[in-house]
Amino acid sequence: MRYVGIGLIGAGYIGHTTALAYRQVAAVFPALPRPRLAVLADVDEAATKTAAERYGFARATTDWRALVADPAVEVVAIATPNHLHAEMAVAALEAGKHVHCEKPMAPDLKLAEIMARAAAAAKGVTIVGYNYLHNPMIATARAMIAGGEIGTPVHFRGTHNEDYMADPEGPFSWRCERALAGLGALGDLGAHIVSLAHTLMGPIAEVCGDLKTVIAERPVPAGGRRRVENEDQAHALVRFASGASGTLEASRVALGQKMGLGFEITGSKGALVFDQTRLNELRLYRGGDARGRQGFTTILAGPEHPGYAAFCPAPGHQIGFGDLKLLEVAAFLEAVAAAKPAYPDFSTAVAFERCLAAIKRSADSRAWAIV
Ligand SMILES: NC(=O)c1ccc[n+]([C@@H]2O[C@H](COP(=O)([O-])OP(=O)(O)OC[C@H]3O[C@@H](n4cnc5c(N)ncnc54)[C@H](O)[C@@H]3O)[C@@H](O)[C@H]2O)c1
Repeated sequence: MRYVGIGLIGAGYIGHTTALAYRQVAAVFPALPRPRLAVLADVDEAATKTAAERYGFARATTDWRALVADPAVEVVAIATPNHLHAEMAVAALEAGKHVHCEKPMAPDLKLAEIMARAAAAAKGVTIVGYNYLHNPMIATARAMIAGGEIGTPVHFRGTHNEDYMADPEGPFSWRCERALAGLGALGDLGAHIVSLAHTLMGPIAEVCGDLKTVIAERPVPAGGRRRVENEDQAHALVRFASGASGTLEASRVALGQKMGLGFEITGSKGALVFDQTRLNELRLYRGGDARGRQGFTTILAGPEHPGYAAFCPAPGHQIGFGDLKLLEVAAFLEAVAAAKPAYPDFSTAVAFERCLAAIKRSADSRAWAIV
């Protein structure tokens, strides 16, 4: 059996999901290299030690460079705020490691491009943490579109709206600061809908964006208030390289929306609809049915859909958010074992970042922008 040593940097929100995925993946996919949880790095010494024990990492450190240099670490998983990704990823690639980096790649496009160049020059395999792409129903939608089941796709309407920052008294955090986060709702949530649009419809060629900060200032935990430096809401008209058109929207202040990621794809012969709150369902409309018998069919995730059977042999029993991260980790370990590119690797994900940067540029100049 082949083992692969894992070093995880960042034990916050998505670090937790990532740690669970690496911990469980060998039980779900026994043919893959088996993770050995080697080192966990975070900034608070006591909290990192407790987290390392909880997840089963052999060692804990507050020094991410020590993690990268550790010979027991073959994969460096980065789950820290956006401004730290580039330095950590480039150091890990230069040290010959494989890199699993959270999205967005970086607070600005130049840094993301540096990361993509470092990956192209390194032997390590890379992946960016677009967990929603690994849903069996997304692979199914992709196969249906590629197989012509809805004809020629002509329109994509995508949203990722949530309300985690809708409370004006919610504290100022790294997510509000341009130097640390880069974009706001567009980078945090819009990145996911851009990744889905690109994966299902092909590259986005042109955009017309509009960004808005709704809550101008937020309380700082240490006292006082601070100006929010990036957008709470983002909208864009998009043109795909294929000629199809569409709209994207992202908001972190959309009251009531807890997981408003979803899309509608219209084709010349049918349509597909997906809603992440019902992530085990894909709705299909086929044109041409007899009048009075037309309507959407709901396809339930089951063992026929790629990845599902590893969790459960019975259809319709459902997988969840954490399972999507586990499927991402499985796809990455498979690519590491085969020394082949993972999806989306740094070279693909940098195209998503170009689209996000173009939406910002377009909004700033109040004109269409080429991606
Ligand atoms: N894929 C997804 O669905 C998803 C969901 C949430 C967040 N994210 C991404 O994950 C990243 C982290 O977001 P989060 O919500 O987990 O943030 P978070 O603030 O909850 O956690 C970040 C962690 O990084 C640690 N950290 C900060 N500086 C560090 C350093 N120098 N060395 C080691 N650890 C350090 C913090 O102490 C904290 O524990 C971001 O890039 C975010 O966009 C992705």
